[in-house]
Amino acid sequence: MPELVRITDVSPRDGLQNESGVVPAAEKVRLIEMLAHAGVDEIEATSFVSPKWVPQLGDAGEVLEALRAQGKFGPEEQAPALSVLVPNEKGFERAKQFHSPAFPLKIAVFTAASETFNKKNTNASIAESIERFRAFVPEAIELGMDVRLYVSTVIACPYEGRITPEQVRRVCDQLIELVGREHFEDDVAELDLGDTIGAATADDMRDLLAMFDDEERESIVIHLHDTFGRAADCVNASLDLGIRSFDGSVAGLGGCPFAGTKEKPAPGNISTELLVRTIRSAGFETNVNVDALADAATFAREMVGRARAAGV
Ligand code: HMG
Ligand code: MG
Repeated sequence: MPELVRITDVSPRDGLQNESGVVPAAEKVRLIEMLAHAGVDEIEATSFVSPKWVPQLGDAGEVLEALRAQGKFGPEEQAPALSVLVPNEKGFERAKQFHSPAFPLKIAVFTAASETFNKKNTNASIAESIERFRAFVPEAIELGMDVRLYVSTVIACPYEGRITPEQVRRVCDQLIELVGREHFEDDVAELDLGDTIGAATADDMRDLLAMFDDEERESIVIHLHDTFGRAADCVNASLDLGIRSFDGSVAGLGGCPFAGTKEKPAPGNISTELLVRTIRSAGFETNVNVDALADAATFAREMVGRARAAGV
């Protein structure tokens, strides 16, 4: 039996936060249903960030309310985990309102290896953002929420240029200290390393992952953007080094609004379709049904096309 690799589709969050138009909540819910039907293991459903910063996801409460009402995202094994991006205590309070045993939510907090990017993305230094997490991550774990800890710009920063593996390791050490190593070992917490602007080569991934031992790599997710068409090579290099969890975005939608400009928008994520193909070609398996995923990709393209045309 080929070894299973875990897939998180981040399109409802990373995919839609960088769009010029706002997609109606009902269509976001439909996309999430289609991704669930396709068998992805986790869906990053939305963001509880400031709607002033990211108006595209200002309907986060409405989307979660609709998903909760469906009763399909309970703790059953076949239901995908649902996660939401949370930058601060206020975002956590909003997530907490929805979390229950019947509708468990995972939270995803985010900082970066680059000071300038983190400031532009969260209006905080790296140390300040980690202090923000200290105010609610222990409570989230106590409430039974799983926790993803993103570190962005792990290869390069759009403002500072190259980032060293040592810089990334330093931030990861602070996050591991904050959560407690035992919570990585019991799968409550994970580190998600983001190549925010898609700068990585396979060699860069090897250099980065060399900073972590085998056990630590079991708790690492890799989040790639595909600017130069090298993301699949980076997936292969990561698989070789023991990574068994990746993020993709159906139809390759995505990008961080604070990593690009109007003239040079931030690049999209590796498409979940390419991610799954690459993993299978490398001799691993996923839970994803590729035909159902292709249907979700078609829907995502049409949905985004409508929103762009409406120009809202
Ligand atoms: P701030 O302006 O410093 O916050 O932003 P503040 O505390 O001063 O509050 C300002 C206003 O926002 C107040 O409202 C707050 O109530 C409100 P007002 O009094 O002016 O009416 N506010 C909130 N509202 C709703 N939910 C909240 C919240 N917090 C404050 N949680 C803040 C600080 C962190 C909020 C802001 O910078 C922010 O929301 N940033 C999010 C940026 C973002 O979403 N970026 C994209 C996601 S990260 C990414 O894409 C990278 C990733 O994909 C990995 C990779 O690729 O590398 C994950
Ligand atoms: Mg991203």
